[in-house]
Amino acid sequence: MEVIIAPTDELVRIAAQNIDELLRRKPDAVIGLATGSSPLAIYNELARRHNEEGLSFAKARGFMLDEYVGLPKDHPERYRNVIEKEIASRVDWPSDQVEGPNGLADDLPDACAQYEQDIKAAGGIDVQILGIGTDGHIAFNEPGSSLSSRTRIKTLTQQTRVDNARFFDDDIDQVPKHCLTQGLGTIMEAKHIILVATGKAKAEAVHQLVEGPISALWPATVLQMHPHCTVLLDDAAASRLQLNTYYRDTYANKPAWQGI
Ligand code: F6R
Repeated sequence: MEVIIAPTDELVRIAAQNIDELLRRKPDAVIGLATGSSPLAIYNELARRHNEEGLSFAKARGFMLDEYVGLPKDHPERYRNVIEKEIASRVDWPSDQVEGPNGLADDLPDACAQYEQDIKAAGGIDVQILGIGTDGHIAFNEPGSSLSSRTRIKTLTQQTRVDNARFFDDDIDQVPKHCLTQGLGTIMEAKHIILVATGKAKAEAVHQLVEGPISALWPATVLQMHPHCTVLLDDAAASRLQLNTYYRDTYANKPAWQGI
């Protein structure tokens, strides 16, 4: 696990540069897309690179991490609509090449199994963008999730619903109680994971993610077992890290030839 602590604009540049290089090397790359506020600046930078530097998503595939169950097809907070608005429609990404779990399916377990098959058929995820919840969830794998779980239905914690109420007129009653989410086992199969966390509210979850014991109580800790995981943090999110100085020193002395 590589931990990089830097100002936000540098974190955004690092993540966008990695995806940029991937797409130019492999135009049909498979990109794992997170929603929420953490990746928004990265999506802005990718859209800028598309507009100004010719970065193309025309052959890429995209797979989302998760989706609310039951939000109407045209609801602005339905994650498939959020991804369309925040990235897909701003670049040359054909809509049918971006897919999320179907939270409106009649048969939800079947939709989850189909989603797993679709990711596999696309060749697996080359790079997965992740945020982290204040309770340590990644995607919507809430505390207690099996570390080898696959795409399935989950019940959101009260904490996550409180955190996400800001997207629903600050009204927790509008936040769905259920979601479909890639499992921790699914996420662990991505070839490269880039997790972004900013702000003090994430500091404890980040401490657990990087330095805590691997435990279903803090689901993100499973990433300690991933062979290629990059954790991008601002000062506030990194503020509880025990080895904070070491991570900074490592990044300051990172060999120029070494990417993330
Ligand atoms: C979103 C997702 C969640 C968020 C997490 C952090 O697709 O899977 O795990 O990444 O809740 O959300 P923000 O970035 O809004 O703080």
